[in-house]
Amino acid sequence: MDFFEDLIAERLGGKSFGKSTEIYKFEKIKRAKAEATSKYPDTPILDLGVGEPDIPADAAVVRALAEEAGKPENRWYSDNGILQFQEAAATYLEKVYQISDIDPKKNIIHGIGSKPVLAFLPICLINPGDVTLATTPGYGVTSTYTRYLGGSVYNMPLTKKNDFFPDFSAVPEDICRKAKILYINYPNNPTGQVATKEFFSSVVQFAKANKIAVIHDAAYAAVVFDGYKPLSFLSVDGAKDVGIEVHSLSKAFNMTGWRMAFVAGNEKIVSAYGTVKDNTDSGQFRAIQKAGIQALNHLEITDKTCERYSRRFDLLITALKEIGFEADKPKGTFYCYVPAPKGAGSDITFNNAEEASTFLIKNALISTVPWDDAGPFLRFSVTFNATGYEAEKRVIEELKVRLMKLDLKF
Ligand SMILES: Cc1ncc(COP(=O)(O)O)c(C=O)c1O
Repeated sequence: MDFFEDLIAERLGGKSFGKSTEIYKFEKIKRAKAEATSKYPDTPILDLGVGEPDIPADAAVVRALAEEAGKPENRWYSDNGILQFQEAAATYLEKVYQISDIDPKKNIIHGIGSKPVLAFLPICLINPGDVTLATTPGYGVTSTYTRYLGGSVYNMPLTKKNDFFPDFSAVPEDICRKAKILYINYPNNPTGQVATKEFFSSVVQFAKANKIAVIHDAAYAAVVFDGYKPLSFLSVDGAKDVGIEVHSLSKAFNMTGWRMAFVAGNEKIVSAYGTVKDNTDSGQFRAIQKAGIQALNHLEITDKTCERYSRRFDLLITALKEIGFEADKPKGTFYCYVPAPKGAGSDITFNNAEEASTFLIKNALISTVPWDDAGPFLRFSVTFNATGYEAEKRVIEELKVRLMKLDLKF
């Protein structure tokens, strides 16, 4: 008899834990990829599903880590982090987003990537019965932790009709009363939408009126192009009174595996986050924090990355449009989000985006990420593997040839 059945917490399903036969989206994609590669071993997968940069961190950042890693003074637990990193983060916010009222000691604490930060924040704010308002589709960590803590999640759909912004007027009054957290993310994964100052101001107003803490997930905030300037939630009047922003070095500096992020904004929330963090981890390795400072001091790393993504999007969007996709170039992130095709040839119908995505993998070895949370959409990422512009052009040409053969219906 396995007594662990009785030990697993209800938040993970209790006795039912591990027994669900439901297969999750990303597992389905993995299985479809494995099936396709074993059927067509000589055809490389065109992977436009990836959610992380295809190139490594900047050489000077790697050198900084190598130098710092061996220094005895960096060996200690760093707890809630080193002031030097907080100061560099404050300077970064000023240079990139023109925010000047951030005290590195009171308004900033680092995180071991933004994922755990987004998990810790509900621990600071959610009691059983409380509500988190979250945009959907979206990055679900804050919502998952809200549920773990006995709270519930009210999803605000991001639809084309609403220009991929949440409609606050559609949130029922009783939900607003119970809401403690508003989670937003711009530039948005997966829709690629970017925020405006007006939108952020409406967020501040809504949060003040309903006494809700705003968590702005700014993982892609600096990954922008085509004249759109990086925009911080904290740059609008009153934002610091109602919320915080979570910045990450993962996407802007090609440092996903390094695990470096920081939370900035409202002193009370930052301090509560510090308490949970202090009781959970012992801080990122100081050498990584110092390499992070090297990254934050070199904005040209992000500029180069954005130029690459922008030129890749120019190729990708043109190709998708030629096939019949309704595709617009986003102004931020490395994702474009397009309505999923409805079928292929004369006899295949897709009931949802997941079926369309699976069809693309199995029949053309093209990997995308499907989203069915607010209508059927596919997410194409420009972080596919290719070195140099000529190679990028070849990938997109090959993508077009493969898609053309499928005779997709829209
Ligand atoms: C919207 C969003 N937020 C946060 C993260 C987590 O980033 P990290 O934990 O690497 O900082 C991701 C990663 O894909 C993301 O897409």
